[in-house]
Amino acid sequence: MTTRRAAHSVTRAGLGLALGMAAVGASLVARPAGAQNFPVSGDVDTYRETIEAVFLEDRGGTTGRFASCVMCHTWQTSVRFSLETPESAEGWSSEQSRRNLDVVGQLINTQDPASSRLLLKPLANDAGGLPHTGGTFWESTDDPEYGRVLQWIQSLPDNQFVPEPEPELDFEFFRACVQQVFANPRDGQLPCSRCHSGGLIGFAPAPGRGDTWTEEEARRAYQLITRVITPGNPEQSRFMIKPLHPDGGGAYTHNGPRRWQSQADAEWQMLASWVRGERSGSSCS
Ligand code: HEC
Ligand code: HEC
Repeated sequence: MTTRRAAHSVTRAGLGLALGMAAVGASLVARPAGAQNFPVSGDVDTYRETIEAVFLEDRGGTTGRFASCVMCHTWQTSVRFSLETPESAEGWSSEQSRRNLDVVGQLINTQDPASSRLLLKPLANDAGGLPHTGGTFWESTDDPEYGRVLQWIQSLPDNQFVPEPEPELDFEFFRACVQQVFANPRDGQLPCSRCHSGGLIGFAPAPGRGDTWTEEEARRAYQLITRVITPGNPEQSRFMIKPLHPDGGGAYTHNGPRRWQSQADAEWQMLASWVRGERSGSSCS
């Protein structure tokens, strides 16, 4: 399982700062307090007992699939899945759980439960899961924890959480205008591909020979980059916010350069409209 080992060490190096915080969080994290202490509605109650227990579950470590979900999914990852920092040693207060549920609601689909991102990200790719920087938690859909989350989603009213359909991102535009970002580093910065060619954080492989990607290489690169993009939502796409300066709405941390000072940057705008599904073809201006 070399990939898993590699994934492990990249995470360790990469999420250094996040994990510093997470370690603090870890001592706070425990199973949620007995629900009877809180005057909460049946809905939030069930959610706290079944789903938040999964988020808090101690998996025996602090990185990758050995870390609890909450260690990476409070403020660290800069994606929609940002839970509250647990208020006490018992976990989240019921008010916090309510806000967490609003967030989790964006990651599930009550009309088509099995398509929920909350189920697909921790699931192995072989079993139909989506690539996940946090690693694989469920080898197959037979995992009891997967089953628990699925059942909870199935138990909700069909129309409670239905995500907007995701826009299609144009391949021609990717090829002509997005890969150009990788090929042309700014201000003496290192090219993205220097650090993002392979491994767990690999989403921008360098061309096999010369300076240009073959059609086949570009197709593969297009698949890879989807992991760090939330279609329709540039502000929550890691591709858009990691190299963006924190003062301009970027991620708190990036162990690489900041290519864009703010969202007003013309290149950022161009890429953002592609992520919203508004651009196609090979004209980048
Ligand atoms: C080691 C850190 C880490 C751990 C542990 C982790 N994740 Fe993640 N997760 C990430 C990162 C980084 C991203 C953003 C990049 C990506 O989508 O892969 C992410 C993305 C996600 C997303 C997509 C969010 C969105 O806005 O679409 C979901 C859902 C998710 N994780 C669920 C989980 C669940 C459930 C667990 C626990 C079983 C978990 N993660 C554990 C790091 C982690
Ligand atoms: C000097 C090395 C380096 C360079 C150059 C670099 N990065 Fe990074 N980047 C990292 C490291 C290390 C991480 C993982 C730790 C972190 O999140 O900061 C990372 C994380 C990321 C992530 C999140 C990856 C994931 O799997 O969730 C994205 C997206 C990203 N970088 C985009 C870029 C883009 C776009 C460029 C080029 C404009 C770039 N980076 C240039 C080192 C680099």
